Amino acid sequence: MYGLLTTIADAVWFILPAYIANGTPVIFGGGPPIDGHKNLPDGNRVFGDGKTILGFVTGIIGGSFIGLVQTLFWSRPGGWEVGLLLSLGALIGDMMGSFFKRRIGLSRGEPLPGLDQLEFIAGAVILGSLLSFPSWEVLAVLFVFTPLIHLGANFVSCKMGFKQEPY
Ligand code: CTP
Ligand code: MG
Repeated sequence: MYGLLTTIADAVWFILPAYIANGTPVIFGGGPPIDGHKNLPDGNRVFGDGKTILGFVTGIIGGSFIGLVQTLFWSRPGGWEVGLLLSLGALIGDMMGSFFKRRIGLSRGEPLPGLDQLEFIAGAVILGSLLSFPSWEVLAVLFVFTPLIHLGANFVSCKMGFKQEPY
């Protein structure tokens, strides 16, 4: 039990920049979409209005800042550079998830349970692993607990009026 708790704590500490990068755009995003309102030949948007330039930039800044704070005041696996990679990976993974959702005809904000919760973690771990690969235990915790934490966080930001749907 104690082992599981410390692994969960390690996992949260490791992935924190990705979470912040994923959550910042909900509050600070908006404005012109990354895809410039363009459609692909299938008639659907490339990414959609939910992926904005401002969201991308503020997400990277927010996530990297947390990684820097972790590094300066405590320590974090791989240092601040990994925080930057995790943030970038989270935002790219999130965009790839939206790209996939548009291709199967889901419009902006329509849920795709599983993908919605794991796309950003997968992107973060993949890019982060260029510099720092978490232990297998941490990895397992990330992919099991992350969907649950993500749903909880979205539920809260929905109740606070930042988000339309709780997913
Ligand atoms: N957001 C943003 N820019 C990004 C990512 C997110 O502005 N690069 C903001 C948008 O306001 C978005 C919100 O964060 O609506 C929540 O993100 P998410 O749930 O990923 O987007 P959805 O609106 O659900 O769109 P999609 O169906 O493409 O996932
Ligand atoms: Mg969504």
